[in-house]
Amino acid sequence: MKAPTLTTLLSSCTAAAASALHYAPNPSSANEPLPLRIPTSYESAVLGRRILALTPIGTLATTFPHDDADDANTNENRPPGLGGVPLSLMDYIADCTGDDGDPTLLALNIETHFRNVAAGSNISLAVRWTPPYPPAKRIKSSSASRSHLQSLLNYIGWGTQPEEDDEPLHESQSYSAANLPRFSLTGYVEPIPDSDDRSDPSSVGARLAACYTDAHPDAKYWLPGNRIHEAHFVKLVVTHVYWVGGFGDRAYIGWIPVEEWRNVTREEWQDVRLPGERKGWKEWAVGDSFGGGEL
Ligand SMILES: *[C@@H]1O[C@H](CO)[C@@H](O)[C@H](O)[C@H]1NC(C)=O
Ligand SMILES: *[C@@H]1O[C@H](CO)[C@@H](O)[C@H](O)[C@H]1NC(C)=O
Repeated sequence: MKAPTLTTLLSSCTAAAASALHYAPNPSSANEPLPLRIPTSYESAVLGRRILALTPIGTLATTFPHDDADDANTNENRPPGLGGVPLSLMDYIADCTGDDGDPTLLALNIETHFRNVAAGSNISLAVRWTPPYPPAKRIKSSSASRSHLQSLLNYIGWGTQPEEDDEPLHESQSYSAANLPRFSLTGYVEPIPDSDDRSDPSSVGARLAACYTDAHPDAKYWLPGNRIHEAHFVKLVVTHVYWVGGFGDRAYIGWIPVEEWRNVTREEWQDVRLPGERKGWKEWAVGDSFGGGEL
């Protein structure tokens, strides 16, 4: 097979980069029906609350304190000059405090995030929707750019596979993440009263522990009261919600008023479906659910 010219490679890279931006026109817009309307911020809040309920992992961000005297991370050999700098890391989340829309966290005192919080940091949590099933049809540009990459690697002698081999170089995701909903919740951490009390099954702590270990069975080893680390259930009290529902021609992008976020009922989020919850979905289809993408 002929190696691609630099121009072909560059133009395919540019196309791939442009299509990854949520506000860019996407390659299939011309062939797909346009949505009847962009979902409202409230409809987006309903989808977001469903995502929160179904997603066990997110990315927390906190900032390091400016004042070293406030810094509980002293035994970490942390480099100087990080005051005010945000740190983002994966953490477990759960939706266990009822219908308030505040995520439940299991705070271990040794965790950098919760040391930052103890020193006064606010917190933000990023959550993305990950469909359980791949779409029925793939977007052509992604496999095309992969084979261009393979061609380029072969061309410069670093190729590991014959070009005819359709195996990806590494396991790439099987859907367009740019077209899927994600959001960031910002706010502060608040203790949950009586959450250490697991004296009987109806106690606050026992109910939180049951809900949390349902999402995270491994966390049974570091529940409050474990003998190794001090741990407490806390909640992220949401003060602001930023939402990117997908491509801007079909999804809402912007702030969701926090009252709308809190107002969503369990019945409402249980009634909607997210893209890819069912097999055979078309990732570019504009569907009957608020977010598009669902058939
Ligand atoms: C936390 O956020 C509030 C606004 O919600 C702000 O007033 C406060 O200064 C922030 N705290 C820190 C340590 O940045
Ligand atoms: C919240 O729900 C109540 C009762 O359904 C409604 O009256 C109110 O307008 C809602 N507020 C917002 C901000 O959606």
